[in-house]
Amino acid sequence: MKLPADGRQALLEMLSAARVIPVLTIARVEHAVPLARALVAGGVRTLEVTLRTPVAADAAKRIIAEVPDAIVGIGTVLDRDDLGAAISLGAKFAVSPGATPDLLEVAVGAGFPFLPGVATASELMVVQSTGLTTMKFFPAEPAGGIPMLRALAGPFPDVRFCPTGGIGEANAAQWLAEPNVVAVGGSWLTPASEIEAGNWGAITARAQRAMRMLAG
Ligand code: 3PG
Repeated sequence: MKLPADGRQALLEMLSAARVIPVLTIARVEHAVPLARALVAGGVRTLEVTLRTPVAADAAKRIIAEVPDAIVGIGTVLDRDDLGAAISLGAKFAVSPGATPDLLEVAVGAGFPFLPGVATASELMVVQSTGLTTMKFFPAEPAGGIPMLRALAGPFPDVRFCPTGGIGEANAAQWLAEPNVVAVGGSWLTPASEIEAGNWGAITARAQRAMRMLAG
């Protein structure tokens, strides 16, 4: 399998293009393709499929195979096996709520676009020491919200963030207005009740609202 020569640049480009990344928890594999199509129909193409359910890897595989306009990443990557699974199933990027030395070593060694999670200055410094400068700020609202991100901008002017955790329609635009925020992620576009009910139209409508928000 061919890996990107520089995962860091590829990741930054994907996040900058996306701006809004739905964090998907897929309970039933038959939901995967219609859910991805509903988001793509609303203009949201970059999707994070979390490894939080037994069907997650199969769900991601189906989306990759059947929804070519979707840019699929794998989230909730907790160890090197998860990261290996993300790479081998053809994901374009991987996301973790944290940053273990093991994950950083594998991702950086493979040149794979990897978004590690940080919530403190010390965690950020560990990630930065590996050469990565784009990080997930998680959990964004509980870990201090926008004031925390502004505080981190002083000592770490080159770091760019994708905040997730507590972001929704009411505050996404505020987060995206921060100069060190490249994209935001969250589950607000895809409520479990609407996925379960197959209410794809409502999910497309949410995606469209997010796109209108970006258009400003
Ligand atoms: C996550 O990885 O769980 C994301 O941060 C989603 O958080 P949210 O459900 O608050 O959007």
